[in-house]
Amino acid sequence: MEEDNPEFIGEYHLDELITSSENIYSDCEVYKATKRNTHEKVILKLSRYSDRGNTELEILNAIRHEFIVNLLDSFKTKFLRNVMIFEKYPRDLQELYTEESLESNRIQKFMNQLMTGIQYIHDKNIIHRDIKPENLMITETDSLKIGDFGISRYTNPTASMTPESVSLWYRPIEILLSCKNHTTAVDIWSAGCVMAELYRRCPLFKGEGQINMINKIINVLGKPTLEEWPTMNELPAMSMIELSGPDSKNFENAIPNASKKSLDLIQNMIMFDPARRFSASQVLQHAYFKTEDISEQNNYEPSFP
Ligand SMILES: Nc1ncnc2c1ncn2[C@@H]1O[C@H](COP(=O)(O)OP(=O)(O)OP(=O)(O)O)[C@@H](O)[C@H]1O
Ligand SMILES: [Mg+2]
Repeated sequence: MEEDNPEFIGEYHLDELITSSENIYSDCEVYKATKRNTHEKVILKLSRYSDRGNTELEILNAIRHEFIVNLLDSFKTKFLRNVMIFEKYPRDLQELYTEESLESNRIQKFMNQLMTGIQYIHDKNIIHRDIKPENLMITETDSLKIGDFGISRYTNPTASMTPESVSLWYRPIEILLSCKNHTTAVDIWSAGCVMAELYRRCPLFKGEGQINMINKIINVLGKPTLEEWPTMNELPAMSMIELSGPDSKNFENAIPNASKKSLDLIQNMIMFDPARRFSASQVLQHAYFKTEDISEQNNYEPSFP
């Protein structure tokens, strides 16, 4: 640490580093911290590099919502590193669902909160681009807050975006096939993967690398046809790889305990063609949210796919 007093950043005492210093892809270090005078416990996010723009802060300053993490303060250190201070929550959704079993009505509530938050940011033309359980915080009152806007961007139909955006297991098929123009549909795919994961208690597509991911997706969704995805051959990677796998869909086996309505919703969120994938408001209007969900409790480790 390059500051004068390594234990303090501004008014905040650094208690514990949460993120791994080995994660070289992350531009930030995240700490548990305590405010000097008030003893308030907070989360402090410190950029590794000095004098950089901070898109995350720009976006967080443009949004405020009950289902989005609460930014309390922001400033620059003497060495011009960006600091963001967040309200501290007890745990993230990844920790929650691995520690306790979630009843289907609780999954339904979290999905409603997640999609309401996503609808809000999409209405503001923001794509989150890293929706996954570790980036969704759960409050003391069991409410969900979307966090980590570190790679979020404003939508831009002409911008070319880096393919390594969304974390591999939650990365939609079009990005795996090198689509450079990301739309809000990428978040819907990731949210669909999160929903399936909560019912399965295990990631839906736990691939090792891009090609393995594509194969895992096709094992569940079946090989895409031109009828369901008319523009697929326009994607850069399609001239280099041949898609192979079963022709039929396999959703029931992949998420065996999910109710018919929850399966139907997941299928509409994880749809090959991003243009046909549900929007956040279509998700929220789906029959799944209209009645109590009757998916069975999942008490076993899934062996599929
Ligand atoms: N407000 C918060 N309250 C409690 N824990 C938090 C909060 N914000 C972040 N965390 C924890 O710190 C982790 C890393 O934070 P965040 O995802 O914002 O940073 P990151 O640099 O993107 O890290 P990574 O690359 O690991 O995703 C989160 O996965 C979460 O467990
Ligand atoms: Mg993160």
